[in-house]
Amino acid sequence: MSLAGDLSDAIDPTRLMTSAGLQPDPWQVEFLRSTAPRYLLLCARQVGKSTVTAALASHVAIYHPNSLVLTLAPSMQQSFEIFRKINSFYHEAETPELDAQSARRIELPNGSRIISLSGNAVTVRGFSAPRLVIVDEAAFADDELFAAVSPMLAGGGRLILLSSPNGKAGFFYEQWANGGAAWARTRVTAEMSSRIPAEFLAVERATKPDRDFRREYLCEFVDVDEQYFGSDLLLRAFESPVEPLFSRPFTWRAPAERVA
Ligand SMILES: Nc1ncnc2c1ncn2[C@@H]1O[C@H](COP(=O)(O)OP(=O)(O)OP(=O)(O)O)[C@@H](O)[C@H]1O
Ligand SMILES: [Mg+2]
Repeated sequence: MSLAGDLSDAIDPTRLMTSAGLQPDPWQVEFLRSTAPRYLLLCARQVGKSTVTAALASHVAIYHPNSLVLTLAPSMQQSFEIFRKINSFYHEAETPELDAQSARRIELPNGSRIISLSGNAVTVRGFSAPRLVIVDEAAFADDELFAAVSPMLAGGGRLILLSSPNGKAGFFYEQWANGGAAWARTRVTAEMSSRIPAEFLAVERATKPDRDFRREYLCEFVDVDEQYFGSDLLLRAFESPVEPLFSRPFTWRAPAERVA
């Protein structure tokens, strides 16, 4: 590899995907080239969010010696998905076993470490000064996890949350809806992905309940099933000013007291 090629690889994380035979989608390019310290990826199922964040994690670990990269998800199984993809970027044949801390880790010759954990606030607290923290399926993670993670970023680490939507509650939803300029945001619906055929989506639309289709493929935060009244409706009920029926206090009188 030429020096120019090495430099391009170091500067441009998209080259990690192309060298693995994947042509990044426009939104993946935009994400990989962003330097935003906090990033929310709200994505439909199967559009490539775990793949692109795995590419970013690999790039950070390779080109920033001695860096710590943490990948988290609500369950170990989900966390392992990104880890497996990171592993495939290195073309490693063997998958590291779980260690004593129930973590999986890759240590690079340059001193960088990539560690995969289940989204458990207690285990996360054991690590300090990560350069990058990735939370997959973030809309399904406990709020305590985010409370444990954000102080770790005081040294300048980046935080990437990726997820398909869940109900209108929780840290991921709150930051997406009300988190303001602190976050860069990208929303990727299934219709934006060339790898999800229109015919497949048509069948899914016809066979799934409407709210499930909107949540899984259109990235809509749909209220959870058991909630009979939607969150928006409940909020408006509490917020909307109700005109008083009487302008003066009303005193009730028994019929006998009333003047005929
Ligand atoms: N740019 C790309 N070019 C070709 N294939 C891609 C690209 N990005 C992702 N893929 C492939 O698409 C499939 C889904 O990718 P990935 O698992 O990253 O999606 P996801 O959004 O995380 O899905 P899920 O919602 O199931 O977690 C994988 O087989 C992956 O290799
Ligand atoms: Mg995924």
